Amino acid sequence: MKIQMTYNKTKKSHNMINKKQSQLSKKAILRLLTFVIMGAFFLTTSFQEVQAKETITPPKHKWDFKGPFGVFKREQLQRGFQVYKEVCSVCHGLNLLRYDKLAALGFSKAEIKAIAGDYAIPGPLNDDGEPTMVKATPGDYFAKPYPNKQAGRAANNGAFPPDLSLITKARVNGHDYLQALLTGYEHAPDDFGLMDGMYYNTYFSGQQIAMPPPLTDNQVEYVDGTKATVEQMSKDVVTFLAWAAEPEMEQRRNLGIKVIIFLLFFTFLMRTLMRRTWRKIKEKK
Ligand code: HEC
Repeated sequence: MKIQMTYNKTKKSHNMINKKQSQLSKKAILRLLTFVIMGAFFLTTSFQEVQAKETITPPKHKWDFKGPFGVFKREQLQRGFQVYKEVCSVCHGLNLLRYDKLAALGFSKAEIKAIAGDYAIPGPLNDDGEPTMVKATPGDYFAKPYPNKQAGRAANNGAFPPDLSLITKARVNGHDYLQALLTGYEHAPDDFGLMDGMYYNTYFSGQQIAMPPPLTDNQVEYVDGTKATVEQMSKDVVTFLAWAAEPEMEQRRNLGIKVIIFLLFFTFLMRTLMRRTWRKIKEKK
């Protein structure tokens, strides 16, 4: 009997200890959870703050080439190409584009030959074994402005001007970002600490960029009489770069629309056929 009682007692105290322990561990888990949630909240907000400080979301623009029925306007592409050729090509390459692709912009073969001829590309070695430069031909890719990255960096305060072939795709909100970047140069605030040879641009990450403001009003003279404001030139060059990144976009989209029209027609045809067949079967019954 005594033994039984002590057994019950110990059992009871065991239960109490277990209860206490589980209450304790519940409290500990709760505390840990609160701690983790607060930590995560603090981390994400401070990370967002850092991100917000690093880059500003560029304002949205209406681009004619966007959306399911978007098209590249030939005149705008030609204007954009003019800006690239006369301004940006001094520092930026377009290595993935061939001169003969410019036919899509409405240039004739002779015009493309003349455009390519304005550029020099590395040719064969001469009899003394030294490298030579030759005129580019329509079948060549766009000439690089610098023979190598080091030369590009040396000419641009240590920063290499990136190739622009895919730049609209390589940046988040590429088209809007480029438009904002090209028009986003400002005077740096007094306390900013702008480094030598750098320029203040709110849209570039870190707000200082090695690219000098590339556009000023009336920098190019458009043949179609369009006023060459900074806003206009940057819209045109961004449109041209968007085309350069995806020259087959229009054909692809046209094919898509044709496929959808065909599928609609096919559905209609099948429905009519099915109705006819069932009508005949019902009539026979
Ligand atoms: C004098 C040389 C020069 C000219 C002209 C120039 N750029 Fe640049 N560009 C640079 C340099 C240098 C950088 C790299 C900047 C850096 O990393 O700080 C750059 C960077 C860029 C970038 C990349 C920005 C990023 O997010 O990394 C774009 C886009 C660009 N330039 C577009 C253009 C366009 C479009 C034109 C013509 C309207 C142009 N640039 C004219 C030198 C130039």
